[in-house]
Amino acid sequence: MNFDRYFSRDANSFRPSAIRAFAKLINDPNIISFAGGVPNPETFPAERIAVLAAQVVRERRHVALQYGPTRGLPRLCPAIAEIMRERGVACTAEDVLTTTGSQQALDLIAHTLLDPGDVVAVELPTYIGGSASFFARSAELAGVAQDDDGVVPESLRELASKRRIKLLYTIPNFQNPSGRLMTQARRDAVLQLAEEFDFLVIEDDPYGELVYVDGADTTAMKSRDTTGRVLYLGSFSKVLAPGLRCGWIVAAKPLLARLEIAKQAADLCSGMLDQSIVDELIANGELAPQIERVRAFYRGKRGVLIEELERHFSGRAQWTSADGGLFTFVTMNDGVDTASRLNDAVANGVAYIPGGPFFVDGSGANTMRLTFAKESDDRIREGVARLARVL
Ligand SMILES: Cc1ncc(COP(=O)(O)O)c(C=O)c1O
Repeated sequence: MNFDRYFSRDANSFRPSAIRAFAKLINDPNIISFAGGVPNPETFPAERIAVLAAQVVRERRHVALQYGPTRGLPRLCPAIAEIMRERGVACTAEDVLTTTGSQQALDLIAHTLLDPGDVVAVELPTYIGGSASFFARSAELAGVAQDDDGVVPESLRELASKRRIKLLYTIPNFQNPSGRLMTQARRDAVLQLAEEFDFLVIEDDPYGELVYVDGADTTAMKSRDTTGRVLYLGSFSKVLAPGLRCGWIVAAKPLLARLEIAKQAADLCSGMLDQSIVDELIANGELAPQIERVRAFYRGKRGVLIEELERHFSGRAQWTSADGGLFTFVTMNDGVDTASRLNDAVANGVAYIPGGPFFVDGSGANTMRLTFAKESDDRIREGVARLARVL
């Protein structure tokens, strides 16, 4: 039977992830993989999670195994508000809606704010899961240029002058896929444009805690949002474990109230077991030392990857400094089409993610995303040497 006539208009706008297809490259041990988009399992506090999971299941089954409030576990919301205050944002528990990962936040926001044809401005390049949420509501995505300081205000102004933008989606801290950190001056410029052209801003921040250099200013845009235009998304995926589907939205109360209703329909509440484990970790003061461990784990790997890129690709390519997060983004000077070279690379035992799918305007064929999260220092060295031979 052909089911096409049953699909909704939105379902016909769904876009499968162009990079999930590459995921199989991550697991072959013969292939040195820069292709992953996931944290390294060695950073997961697995033993502590095991202990706390057993504890909350045995001692607090009426909470951890029960339905809970849509807003979130009552003790976790103020703990998240405290995290937000540390990030410079005036926030109380009433400003927080927990979500099933920040991916759900993107979906809920798209569902709540977007009508078919609405224009969402996204960075060039941008996170595929973000674009997928907007495409799934039949929105139109328009690209905004990015340089090493983040969103280019002139490009955003030009777009906003031509099209009625409803939402801007930005990842200011160590963006996926580019690894870039937006300067505070650029954040101010973006906020000013949001005021001038009357659009809302999604500030997606799963990587802000993964900092590897001194002096990186990751202060949230939301901290200077005086009119409530910014919807801030946070997540424990990169500092604890993404299998604990635990993220959150901080937004103006009228927006949050509507998002809460959308969430009631989506899943009633996020996993209470996951939230209970995260809540216990935070209450025990275990989050800060865990973040330090994660930073230390990635800092060295990031250094090795950047050093090897300098050794093998100087003069042939440019790459972002990846002062935090999980990725560096490489742009080949000579217009090499990275997608067409991937099979060759894999045959030579190295994998990466071609950058094209991250650009909604169809550009970026000569770019690629590399993660330093997965491989050992030695394999990173060997992997970059292989890459240099193939490209
Ligand atoms: C920029 C960005 N936003 C959101 C997500 C989704 O994260 P979560 O596990 O919190 O749903 C990711 C995951 O990689 C991401 O890179």
